[in-house]
Amino acid sequence: MKNILLTLLALALIACGNNNTKPSTPIPHGETIALLQPDLDGGLPINRALSLRASSRNYTSEPLSLEELSEVLWAAAGVNRPDGHLTAPSAIALYPLSLYAFTAEGVYLYSSATHTLTRVVEGDHRALTASQDFAYEAALNIVYIADLGKYENRGIPRTKAEFLCGQDAAGYAENVNLYAAGHGLKSITRGSLRSSEVVALLGLGENFLPVLAQTVGK
Ligand SMILES: Cc1cc2nc3c(=O)[nH]c(=O)nc-3n(C[C@H](O)[C@H](O)[C@H](O)COP(=O)(O)O)c2cc1C
Repeated sequence: MKNILLTLLALALIACGNNNTKPSTPIPHGETIALLQPDLDGGLPINRALSLRASSRNYTSEPLSLEELSEVLWAAAGVNRPDGHLTAPSAIALYPLSLYAFTAEGVYLYSSATHTLTRVVEGDHRALTASQDFAYEAALNIVYIADLGKYENRGIPRTKAEFLCGQDAAGYAENVNLYAAGHGLKSITRGSLRSSEVVALLGLGENFLPVLAQTVGK
């Protein structure tokens, strides 16, 4: 009897230990994806993540979990304060960037305000986000697209506006790189993308400029 009780206790302890396993929910692809709130205590300490940050050009096709996708986008451009400002800074707090998530199942537009993804194009268009093979099969390619209209009537020349949008995007992307390093994912910031084809696919006007791309995966 004593042995049975000890065995049951051991099994219960193992079950408790398993509660530490990170949840891994498949992404529910569809017209909208309600993303999960971030685990603010998750991942490696920031200094450890910094020590691991490196660009990767070697990916499998393994998809991200819903938890990972949610936190990658929150790291890039999630609301982190009551005033609606984001995890990344933006020049003059203009926030001219939109984030498009290219996956095997479709292209989605990220909303910081609602922390949701809305599908804007069906199908796999990841190849448009790069001129490098490794990106075509990776789980996620983010394209950062600037709305230069946000800079209109501010006395800022277009070249300066484009420069500042690129700087915003670099900040968003580096947040993602650090998130990836701290959560066992791979990532790379990329300037290589097929800009005019992306704009055409998304049906965007002349004020919209893809300024940066990024691959995230496993
Ligand atoms: C703005 C920017 C654009 C980049 N574009 C590309 C790119 O198009 N293709 C690529 O393979 N790497 C690209 N990289 C990654 C750099 O090549 C990489 O950061 C550099 O080689 C240093 O390596 P590390 O990131 O591992 O430290 C880019 C990096 C930055 C910051």
